[in-house]
Amino acid sequence: MRHLLNPLDLSVEEIDQLIDLAHDIEHHLSKYSHVCDGKKLATLFYEPSTRTRLSFESAMLNLGGSVLGFSSADSSSAAKGESVADTIRVISCYADIAAMRHPKEGAALVASQFAGIPVINAGDGGHQHPTQTLTDLMTIHSLKGTFSNMTIGMCGDLKFGRTVHSLIEAMVRYPNVKFVLISPDELRVPSYIRQDVLLANHIEFKEVDNLDEALPELDILYMTRVQKERFFNEEDYVRLKDFYILNKKKMKLAKEDMYVLHPLPRVNEISVEVDNDPRAAYFRQAQYGVYIRMALIMTLLEVEKPC
Ligand code: CP
Repeated sequence: MRHLLNPLDLSVEEIDQLIDLAHDIEHHLSKYSHVCDGKKLATLFYEPSTRTRLSFESAMLNLGGSVLGFSSADSSSAAKGESVADTIRVISCYADIAAMRHPKEGAALVASQFAGIPVINAGDGGHQHPTQTLTDLMTIHSLKGTFSNMTIGMCGDLKFGRTVHSLIEAMVRYPNVKFVLISPDELRVPSYIRQDVLLANHIEFKEVDNLDEALPELDILYMTRVQKERFFNEEDYVRLKDFYILNKKKMKLAKEDMYVLHPLPRVNEISVEVDNDPRAAYFRQAQYGVYIRMALIMTLLEVEKPC
């Protein structure tokens, strides 16, 4: 039995296979409509979500399976004090696979240690968000045809942004990938990402605070939201929340083939006037999230690809 807790739980070859399967699903959706007949996905969401929870549910329904779960801690027995360990033991009696989002870092790891079914980390605090990373990788591969030889700008909340941490960990495995880490001083990447991931893998990167100066050299710009829910005080959040706003004027500084990704939700960091720019890829990215999660569910449930 396999779990997905961190993007590095999957080898580069396994990620290639998942993306190939997801592309086949994208182009032949009906072929997959019964491959998970009789299987159940539990979505255990202790934190708010639109895309991750609903794309998981859409993915399982597209595969012919069923979905059960809860969308907030308040509506589960966590509100009565039940532990993650006990909850997942019980859910293992009800479902074949579980996707779990939790505000505490490491919660999905704990769940996996007590589960009788595969557990997918759908976001654990400010730590990791591996299925967003699979979505991001599928998007980058679809837009650029490769993961190699590119400069990726990551902009916004790089401290608490779990999607940023997961994507950096995944991308350092490909040749000649460089990073420009664009953030205010207070929201720079955690030291374990700088030391144990970037420096340890001899990756070229720089940390800057000026988006305009960085834009011309980027092949991908990964924008992120400043996450109100991770701040300890309102004053810091208010000071930093609009530090970066990508607009049409700034897009003129970027290459013609630089694509803008964002895990969403966005607040103010990308002006809606950018949405119609052909380089704005964030809504396509959300669509890819369904296909890659279908591929992941099939893989973890060891479901055969149909002919
Ligand atoms: N990208 C993402 O995780 O979105 P949700 O919080 O809506 O699931």
